[in-house]
Amino acid sequence: MSTAPRSPRTSITEMTELVLPQHSNVLGTAFGGTVLAWIDVCGAICAQRHTGLVAVTAAIDEVNFVSPIRVGDVVILQGRINAAFRTSVEVSVTVQVEDRITTHRRACVDAFMTFVGVNENGEPQPAPPLLTETPDDERRVREATQRREARLLTRKR
Ligand SMILES: CC(C)(COP(=O)(O)OP(=O)(O)OC[C@H]1O[C@@H](n2cnc3c(N)ncnc32)[C@H](O)[C@@H]1OP(=O)(O)O)[C@@H](O)C(=O)NCCC(=O)NCCS
Repeated sequence: MSTAPRSPRTSITEMTELVLPQHSNVLGTAFGGTVLAWIDVCGAICAQRHTGLVAVTAAIDEVNFVSPIRVGDVVILQGRINAAFRTSVEVSVTVQVEDRITTHRRACVDAFMTFVGVNENGEPQPAPPLLTETPDDERRVREATQRREARLLTRKR
């Protein structure tokens, strides 16, 4: 895989899911664990598109469930690389519900995750640098770098 810098736009990943009865609790809202599994898959595909490697989940943090997702809802997940470090990348995944009549999207969940690209022996491999093209790209890198410092401090404890 080339280690030439790659734009975050080349790896943006969108997934669509329909919430079925088997995804829900007795209140008819989606299980958090089901939504987390969708988030993990979306984030991993995004990380794999950036690195060209099999990406394993190293950490999931700051998962915020801000509004309920109900049976019958159409759920849109979007994954985006915020920053690439040596072998790890931070991916943010947002989860929205799309109104079937207006197609307006309501924010439901957001999460920050760290993935590491590995070889066939599970050994971490260098990630291509992130090509920042806009002020928003640069802001995301700054914020991801701060979160990484906090995350790795917690890991050391
Ligand atoms: C993630 C994993 C590959 C890291 O391997 P390691 O031997 O610890 O390698 P390193 O110490 O060199 O770390 C590699 C990178 O992972 C990052 N990392 C490791 N653990 C991390 C954590 N808990 N949170 C954030 N980043 C982490 C390191 O910061 C490093 O990033 P960098 O190269 O960009 O600086 C290894 O711990 C692993 O395979 N974990 C299991 C992954 C898995 O199975 N996930 C599925 C869920 S069960």
